[in-house]
Amino acid sequence: MSGRIPRQFIDDLLVRVDIVDIIDSHVPLKKTGSNYTARCPFHNEKSPSFNVNRNKQFYHCFGCGAGGNVISFLIEFNHLSFVEAIEELATFAGVEIPYENQTNCEPDAKNKLLDLQQLMAQVATFYVEQLRNHPQKNVAIDYLKGRGLPGVIARDFMIGYAPDGWQILSPHFKNTELLCEAGMLAFKNDMYYDRFRQRIMFPIRNKRGHVIGFGGRVLDDSQQPKYLNSPETPLFHKSNEVYGLYELLKKNPKPSRILIVEGYMDVVTLAQFEIEYSVAALGTNLTATQLQLLFRSTPEVILCFDGDKAGKDAAWKAMDAVFSILNDNRQVRVLLLPPEHDPDSLLRSEGVEAFTQRIENAEMVSSYFFNHFTVTLDLNSIEGRAKLAHQAKPFLLKLAGSFFKEMMVAKLKELTDFDVAPAIEKENAAPQQNRYQKENQNVRHSLERLTLALLVQNPQLVEKLDANPIDWQALDFAGIEVFKAIVQKICIEKPATIAQLLEHYRGQPEENMVNALAYLSVLVPEEGIEAEFTGALTRLLTKAKETRLEKLQIQATTRDLTDQEKEILRDLSR
Ligand code: GTP
Ligand code: MN
Repeated sequence: MSGRIPRQFIDDLLVRVDIVDIIDSHVPLKKTGSNYTARCPFHNEKSPSFNVNRNKQFYHCFGCGAGGNVISFLIEFNHLSFVEAIEELATFAGVEIPYENQTNCEPDAKNKLLDLQQLMAQVATFYVEQLRNHPQKNVAIDYLKGRGLPGVIARDFMIGYAPDGWQILSPHFKNTELLCEAGMLAFKNDMYYDRFRQRIMFPIRNKRGHVIGFGGRVLDDSQQPKYLNSPETPLFHKSNEVYGLYELLKKNPKPSRILIVEGYMDVVTLAQFEIEYSVAALGTNLTATQLQLLFRSTPEVILCFDGDKAGKDAAWKAMDAVFSILNDNRQVRVLLLPPEHDPDSLLRSEGVEAFTQRIENAEMVSSYFFNHFTVTLDLNSIEGRAKLAHQAKPFLLKLAGSFFKEMMVAKLKELTDFDVAPAIEKENAAPQQNRYQKENQNVRHSLERLTLALLVQNPQLVEKLDANPIDWQALDFAGIEVFKAIVQKICIEKPATIAQLLEHYRGQPEENMVNALAYLSVLVPEEGIEAEFTGALTRLLTKAKETRLEKLQIQATTRDLTDQEKEILRDLSR
């Protein structure tokens, strides 16, 4: 089992990889002066305010305030955990992570996750064994046979059987608390009992193949609910995951398309008919996170919904998420099945060729989107066309700047016979000002803040302090404690760049504050930084002196100063 990742390794990794290379492989960057820029991947914008600085190994968006080092980027952009981000970086750099054993450490949060992961793997194996060996296994096997599911598919998807019983897992695994945290037990009337009973078990695996949750189907359709999903746990966040992705990528790590369907059974039946590129959303509205997850592995996603009202509604609801992640490199199509059918039933009734043909012919999202309006609105009237413009606009505003967006706007213009572009552009350009922008534009930073920001952004400045030591006694300003702490941190950790410094603050109480200082735009050219910093320190010293002088002078008018105070006063007035 893997343990802790040594701090030193992370520091080294941050030196070894170049943030420009990593970000460029996710978001193509353009060199502008000493910076690299792009349209920000974390919010919609027309002109690029996303900056990557090679010297500082740091990115920052002046529009939305997103920023950090390369680890933060991978976490945010790819929705990875901290450890996963490090693993990805290590792979990129071609180095092995020297995991430390944690024999003398308190078990921490990461260990807990590993314990949960291990337990879930064991539970999945346990359910598979029940399907093979349990005395009542035949009810489950007969059910699966009845649905035409072959053994190889059950094996590939690790399908199992949760036997009928309230107290099966606890006695077997002997760790009630962990089982409970993993979502496998429920608690009622002062008693823990198995959440899944007498159900076919579909383990939900993450991209790396770890079992993070389960879906369980009743064997007898008269039982309710038909499907039961794992609750949210530290491992399992339903709206960030899809069913079947691990199994899909195992067959083909770079599929040319991925089909999203509604049900577990649909995914396994599709696989059985060698349509091995489908996943299921987990019974929730499709989220942007789920789509991002899929678009990391494929350029095309096809939304396949049942033809009933619920399916149609779900398809339209998905547009929110779809429009927020579409760009010129991603294609989405929509496939609505005939009413009364889902992929499982349709495949079995019409065969794989006819079904594949439907996939080939799935409608482009652009066409699906506009058709949705044109069937309900009367586009011969001004009223109908105004409604169209009004209803379509919020979706178009969600789109990131792209040719796709411009063409969608052009299409709307054609359909409404009205130049909608200015209205959309106006709204896009309307300042979505956030606090970072306001801070950076309107406020002239206080001297104190500027000094702190210069230090955080240029940790090498601490070396200058050796040559020109700070008179800590004399220096006194709001934030001096923070300043001292950061100086101390830099002296101990000796970060080469701001990227490393931020890494040392990850998860610490000061993280947000140090990040805010890191993003502060100080508008000092590279060559002037040292002078600006020394100058700022001198001014702070002068300010501190003046304040003390003033204080003593005021005190002198009300009482006699002590000899010591008099001496200080003499010194200060010199
Ligand atoms: P069968 O073919 O009847 O096994 O089901 P299906 O895979 O076709 O699923 P269905 O279309 O009925 O539902 C689609 C998905 O919605 C399922 O895979 C579940 O994720 C979810 N779902 C369906 N019924 C329930 C339910 O009763 N409770 C919960 N929580 N989710 C459900
Ligand atoms: Mn079905």
